[in-house]
Amino acid sequence: MLDQIEQIFKEIEILPINNLAELEVFRIKYLSKKGIISQLFEDFKTVPNEIKKNFGQQLNNLKIAGQAKYDACLSEFSKINVIQTKKDLSAPSDNVQIGSRHPISLIKNEICQIFGRIGFNISEGPEIEDDWHVFSALNFPSEHPARDMQDTFFIEKNPDILLRTHTSSVQIRVMERQKPPIRIVMPGRVFRNEAISYRSHCIFHQIEGLYIDKNVSFADLKQTLIYYGKEMFGSGVKIRLRPSYFPFTEPSAEMDISCSLCKGKGCNVCKHSGWLEVAGSGMVDPSVLENCHIDSSNYSGFAFGMGVERTAMLKYDIKDLRIYFENDIRFLKQFSAAL
Ligand code: PHE
Repeated sequence: MLDQIEQIFKEIEILPINNLAELEVFRIKYLSKKGIISQLFEDFKTVPNEIKKNFGQQLNNLKIAGQAKYDACLSEFSKINVIQTKKDLSAPSDNVQIGSRHPISLIKNEICQIFGRIGFNISEGPEIEDDWHVFSALNFPSEHPARDMQDTFFIEKNPDILLRTHTSSVQIRVMERQKPPIRIVMPGRVFRNEAISYRSHCIFHQIEGLYIDKNVSFADLKQTLIYYGKEMFGSGVKIRLRPSYFPFTEPSAEMDISCSLCKGKGCNVCKHSGWLEVAGSGMVDPSVLENCHIDSSNYSGFAFGMGVERTAMLKYDIKDLRIYFENDIRFLKQFSAAL
């Protein structure tokens, strides 16, 4: 019987196995429950006691050798299998998901392009700002409610360092370092401590505009906003300017467009007024120019600021601005990759 084990040892050792199918034949013949090795374990019970120890050892070694050969062949053939599938250059490629631009980026780009066509360049500033650039230089009195903890996010306990609440801070940064003529748009993210709802969020985007030169008048502001309104919302749109107040512009005006949904008849979106507010604007207050060391007796200018989320809601008929931040692929996929 020991001879038999030795012979099977040799057999296993020299047996050529060339592929997975042959390996399976090997497994069934030697290693399966009804295979030769299992059979020998059965015979083991009847082996005389004096050779049991030696026989048991030999048999165990045989089983280990058979399993080792099987494992070695299996890992080799699986490797070959992987290489073969990788090598198939004619196989169709994996489905690559192509993204689309976010509607906020599309509108931001469109606004910048509209102003780019009439000579406005683009400038950007920091999101973490100081009190001077967000408030003081823009004529906000020290007791102004916009500085309040309820509106502004401060960085740690230092009341001088905060998240900008509007992109008007970039006006100051540009005027401080650049001499007129200045003609720029300033896109950016702004932060306000507001409850999140379908119409307001604590993070949103604005685009600021600034034009400073000699003899810039309110007529220039009006004409620029009319041009923008028609480019953005179509030539049929009606535009109106309403008197308003901002600490850094005088006079100030709010820009409304006729409601595109009800064509001015009145609906839920325009709160039955027929008009939608799209931008704040005004003539830059002379003291703001002086704060930036621009001679207000020589230069004048206008500024405007608009919300990107709101503009995108009007253009794409989006009812709830929270959807911009949810990254739901079904929403995002609707916007083309163009622009
Ligand atoms: N910064 C103002 C706001 O956030 C908008 C504005 C910009 C108004 C420029 C006038 C001029 O509401």
